[in-house]
Amino acid sequence: MLLRTSNSIFVRSISDCRLEPSSSMASISEEQQLPQKRYFRQRAHCNPHSRHSLDSPSRPADVDWPGIFASDFKEGDDVEFADVGCGYGGMLFALAELHPDRRALGMEIRIKVCDYVQEKIRAMRAAHPGCYGNIACVRSNAMKQLVNYFRKGQLSKLLFLYPDPHFKRAKHKWRIISPALLAEYAYVLRPGGRLYTATDVPELHDWIVQHAACHPLFRQLSPDELASDPLTPRLVDTTEEGRKAQREGRSCLPAVFERVPDPADTTGQTGAVQ
Ligand SMILES: C[S@@+](CC[C@H](N)C(=O)[O-])C[C@H]1O[C@@H](n2cnc3c(N)ncnc32)[C@H](O)[C@@H]1O
Repeated sequence: MLLRTSNSIFVRSISDCRLEPSSSMASISEEQQLPQKRYFRQRAHCNPHSRHSLDSPSRPADVDWPGIFASDFKEGDDVEFADVGCGYGGMLFALAELHPDRRALGMEIRIKVCDYVQEKIRAMRAAHPGCYGNIACVRSNAMKQLVNYFRKGQLSKLLFLYPDPHFKRAKHKWRIISPALLAEYAYVLRPGGRLYTATDVPELHDWIVQHAACHPLFRQLSPDELASDPLTPRLVDTTEEGRKAQREGRSCLPAVFERVPDPADTTGQTGAVQ
């Protein structure tokens, strides 16, 4: 079924996606044209603690999901995956194709980069009718606003791919994996859900493992579990930063953590999605 959306883009329901081979794109219309990254470049690092003027819903119940996704939301039709610091959106597009029946949200603090992802989603929807209606990107500071978007246990996958390393000791407080933030990540992830990380910076990988593995609500996946998660290889080859690291000969270090149940929580909600 075709839907008219608030942005006048036509998309089908999210499970009705058939990607056509690229030959069908021989002549592309203006709205199908992909944005060019060179017009959306922005300084790489920004201070997540500075006061950005970012609109944010005051609580998850106030999020305008139909507006953000420019598509219909049925009762109980939730966003289940979040890609924090999604950059130019490589993983979002991979998630759209791997899980056409689930919704994924990219959260990106840099305005031009977020604009690029939104433009690309629009173009990809126009070029592949019925596809990519399940992904969207918002400009937000996830270190401050994650819980404004997601309620307790809403997410089954939370991704942090190639996060800014903030090497200097004085800037470690800017790192997006920290004991305080892990508590928030445990809050929005349902038991059985997974927190995915990858970095090409060994020091940051050690930092992530050190903090997440000793958190009482996370358990690091064993090498066998990691190998059997279908998303593992995509942590390396889908994002711009992952591909850059590969091109430049740096190893990508993934680490994935499962949200373990809180013995004090009796709701019993679980939600692994492989
Ligand atoms: C090194 S890039 C990685 C981008 C992408 N994940 C990839 O692998 O290509 C880190 C991204 O996180 C974004 N970022 C940093 N802090 C953030 C925050 N607090 N909230 C949302 N995005 C953030 C940056 O703007 C940047 O685009």
